[in-house]
Amino acid sequence: MTEKNRDKNRIWIFDTTLRDGEQAAGGNLNVAEKLQIAHRLARLGVDVIEAGFPAASPGDFECVRTIGQEVQGSTIAGLARTREQDIRACYDALKSAPSRRIHVFIATSPIHMQDKLRLKPEEVLQEVKTGISLASSLFEDVEFSAEDASRSELPFLIKVFKMAVASGATTLNIPDTVGYATPEEFYEFCKAIIEGVGAPEHVIYSVHCHDDLGLAVANSLAAIRAGARQAECTINGLGERAGNASLEEIVMALKVRQDFYGFTTGLDTTKLHSVSSLVSRLSGIAVPPNKAIVGANAFAHQAGIHQHGVLKNPLTYEIMKPEDVGASGTELVLGKHSGRHAFNDRIEHLGYALTREQAQTAFELFKKLCDTKKNVSDGDISALIADEILVPDQKNMYELKHYSVRTGEGPALAVITLATNGGEISDAATGNGPVDAAYRAIWRAIELEPELISFSIDATSDHSDAMGEAMVTLRSGEIVAPGRGVSTDIVESAIKALISAVNRLYVIAAARGVELQKKQKPAA
Ligand code: KIV
Ligand code: ZN
Repeated sequence: MTEKNRDKNRIWIFDTTLRDGEQAAGGNLNVAEKLQIAHRLARLGVDVIEAGFPAASPGDFECVRTIGQEVQGSTIAGLARTREQDIRACYDALKSAPSRRIHVFIATSPIHMQDKLRLKPEEVLQEVKTGISLASSLFEDVEFSAEDASRSELPFLIKVFKMAVASGATTLNIPDTVGYATPEEFYEFCKAIIEGVGAPEHVIYSVHCHDDLGLAVANSLAAIRAGARQAECTINGLGERAGNASLEEIVMALKVRQDFYGFTTGLDTTKLHSVSSLVSRLSGIAVPPNKAIVGANAFAHQAGIHQHGVLKNPLTYEIMKPEDVGASGTELVLGKHSGRHAFNDRIEHLGYALTREQAQTAFELFKKLCDTKKNVSDGDISALIADEILVPDQKNMYELKHYSVRTGEGPALAVITLATNGGEISDAATGNGPVDAAYRAIWRAIELEPELISFSIDATSDHSDAMGEAMVTLRSGEIVAPGRGVSTDIVESAIKALISAVNRLYVIAAARGVELQKKQKPAA
């Protein structure tokens, strides 16, 4: 018995993102990607990582073998049917893993036994006996799952689990394979199994729920209340059909409502966000913005009343701190529902000290902008303040006077002339295409090179004489400024957008009393 088993208040987290999660439509990870995820799961503090199903394919075998050898800190599990070749494949994949588990399963519901396995209940019982006996001769740590347990007959299920324990299983898993259970019923069901099997102390019960009715997390928590001490789950709730129980939701429910459940896990929850992003990026399956814990909006408040409350005390509308799950922080999304408090707070945060009247005008302009733009970014607010409040009459620092570009063989060449302070500055540069060359020439001319955070050019219609609308965002130190330029000549629109962003950088810097960092003339 390990330390973890002895602690009755500790819930083991068994992550199956790489096995059940990978069965999600579209999710197909290669060995290197799975290894990267497994390392991060281990650092997150997951107790068991189910790395794959070695008998399923050479790729899965390789993956379980590699993860078993290279990932430290978690037990690595491989899945197997009760068949000898599956169990031996799992052993071969994990024989040199420092901490390993075999996870053997067979279905126990009438519909699965009759229509899928075409086995009688006594034959299934025999499969459990031979499969688990072989598994326990090769592994110390043996998990047995009764697939489709929630639709199995209780007396038969108890018999099957008793047989698994007698044959050497150390973990008994109760899956709701098709997401059919409901929390109240599943609680009673799990309780009845645990009482009926009467397993010795060293055996722990596990739960594995699917989300077909959106109840996977609720059912997992019900099973934990009934006596399960291991929860099987996946990052972002990835998995077959509607997915598996989401790891981050189970873990945070146990943490935030420890007063109710009374359990802990060994996870460093501050790593949840980054692991979620990694899994989403590598699997290509996006996290819905409203997803609990890790969704982009999980800590975003748009309603004015909520924003007001959160500014006074985050706990008015937040039950956990964003930092507890590694999120970047509470975000007050500014839009048409936002109130004056949130707007003023953002202005302050952006470094402006406006008078009461200026703040009032800015708020009115902001509300108008919200009617045309769904999400108003910090850059939009800075632009609004720079253009409309701080220097409505001030001349721009730079205006485009003239430009020419030469393209064709070799790098493009641009020559730029800008009007400034009654004079002119001019410079030339080569670049990778006409826009790049023009931008380099501008940086040389103005001796400034802010970071180009975003750049796009769109046509304003689908005709060949369409205007090109260029948008850029620049950052210099803490200051972020957007710029827009429109022209039938797309190079000119890109140049105008850049110059308008540069002008705004100057206005914002002056308003904050800071100097923009000058740069030595970069090479032509
Ligand atoms: O959903 C399920 O029943 C499974 C088993 C293999 C545990 O994934
Ligand atoms: Zn499953």
